[in-house]
Amino acid sequence: MSIVAPSLLAANFLKLEDECKMVNASEAAWLHLDVMDGQFVPNISFGIPVIEHVRKATTKFCDVHLMIETPGNLVPAFKKAGADSIIVHYEACPNLHRNVQQIKELGMKPAVAINPHTPVFMLDDILADLHHVLIMTVNPGFGGQKFIPHSLKKVERLRKMIDERKLDVLIEVDGGVTIENAQSLVNAGADVLVAGNTVFSSADPKETIKKLKVCSR
Ligand code: DX5
Ligand code: ZN
Repeated sequence: MSIVAPSLLAANFLKLEDECKMVNASEAAWLHLDVMDGQFVPNISFGIPVIEHVRKATTKFCDVHLMIETPGNLVPAFKKAGADSIIVHYEACPNLHRNVQQIKELGMKPAVAINPHTPVFMLDDILADLHHVLIMTVNPGFGGQKFIPHSLKKVERLRKMIDERKLDVLIEVDGGVTIENAQSLVNAGADVLVAGNTVFSSADPKETIKKLKVCSR
């Protein structure tokens, strides 16, 4: 069974508490929170005060995806806001090992995201330190984009790297995940399915989460 991580970016921001309640009552195990700074990505979303409030309304594992430059400065504040895991971008972190250790030392699960142009082998020397890897299946910055088909190959390659080394690292995919492509992503090796519009724009979000969750290898 897959871990489903609804992305709050696609929720109705006027009704965040209700949206959290819907996710609480669903079979999703994680809640995915997208933070954007208008620098690393060409968009701005929400930040620490919103996550602080969401934390009070959600019972799920809070997976915080930092699409920001120099994330290290803000990692302690996201811990304080209630993050369970922090995802930093490979492309935003020249001192990635330090960032990963910092996340761990603060008691959170460390994760690294790679953009569509970054090959999975760039993670070779950090993989063993990670709780999960986020493979971006669209260019980060916006919800509702079309899935990049080449991403499937990247998931397969990373799965192979993890299995060959007998590591316990989860593969998460983010962007353009739909009911139609979810099973192929899981077949390729994905463990965690982030879904924004597929969940929040559907007529029955809880049922949609269930359909994503039953995808299994
Ligand atoms: C994009 C974000 C995603 C986004 C996914 O930069 O990282 O988490 O919310 O949205 P959908 O699932 O609608 O493509
Ligand atoms: Zn995300």
